[in-house]
Amino acid sequence: MNKVAVVGAGSMGRQIALHCALKGLDASIYDVSGTVLSAAREFSGDYLDSRVAKNRITPELRDDTIGRLKFADSLESCVDGASVVIEAIIEDFAPKATLFEVLGHLCPRSTILASNSSNIVGSRLAAVTEFPERVVNLHFFNPVLVMDLVEVVLHPAVTPEVERKALAFCKEIDRTSIVVRKEVPGFVVNRIFRALTREAMNLLEGGFASAEDIDLAVTRGLGHPMGPFYLMDVAGVDVTYLARLDEYRETGNEAAKPNEILERLYHEGRWGKKVGKGFYDYPENFEKREGR
Ligand SMILES: NC(=O)c1ccc[n+]([C@@H]2O[C@H](COP(=O)([O-])OP(=O)(O)OC[C@H]3O[C@@H](n4cnc5c(N)ncnc54)[C@H](O)[C@@H]3O)[C@@H](O)[C@H]2O)c1
Repeated sequence: MNKVAVVGAGSMGRQIALHCALKGLDASIYDVSGTVLSAAREFSGDYLDSRVAKNRITPELRDDTIGRLKFADSLESCVDGASVVIEAIIEDFAPKATLFEVLGHLCPRSTILASNSSNIVGSRLAAVTEFPERVVNLHFFNPVLVMDLVEVVLHPAVTPEVERKALAFCKEIDRTSIVVRKEVPGFVVNRIFRALTREAMNLLEGGFASAEDIDLAVTRGLGHPMGPFYLMDVAGVDVTYLARLDEYRETGNEAAKPNEILERLYHEGRWGKKVGKGFYDYPENFEKREGR
């Protein structure tokens, strides 16, 4: 693998590109918004400086990484020469489909076209793309610079060669990969997360235990690093609510229907840590308590 291209420099894209550059790949990133692209450049510099300051990386690695990371001013220059293109743009099918159609024409057949989408499966994007056999989901987790897993999600058109290359790419960037052999909403991790949070909310709504105690039960009794309520606050109550609503509308699956408490918190604007309130309240000097 020589070069990876990332399209979309928001919270996920900027971390994916930076991680790949840290692991020795040439990485190019592009965003329709010049402001976002500048913010991604600043984020990368600040992150690398802080790693040097904490003695986690050498100044040489920081400088080499900066040298490998390019902030492209056009989609064409971003994807030029890339073996893997990772789409990390807004979670909306129409712009993603338009982008994949363009990428299908711009990139040679050997280039893997991957979506980082949490919900929109590769086969839907493959359908609008020239050579659909090279479209997969490469699903990274937030924060990408910390979380080790990538879900490689396949659909029937994907060839064994593309699967092999996708797994080799994950290995090259030092990430653990799992293969999801059939597309399913939420893939593996988010399905398990949804089952856990659904049951936690059922227990809370039924008055069986408090959010604090359910979180403690999961951290101390199951050994999870965070309890489900604290985790939803970190991930964003809005993100959890909208993902559940989307799955419910798509599938009609009653188990996916957002719990009443989730719906209420969403409409009250209690979207989690980022707004200072969710299942818990976060005073400005909030420190994470063990078990939350
Ligand atoms: N945020 C998460 O925790 C998370 C986790 C896993 C996967 N994902 C997935 O990653 C993708 C990106 O999520 P995010 O949180 O980084 O979003 P974000 O809103 O932070 O960033 C999206 C970026 O895409 C840019 N963009 C929009 N249309 C574009 C186009 N046509 N070409 C180039 N850039 C374009 C926007 O300007 C924006 O900067 C989504 O599909 C999401 O489902 C997100």
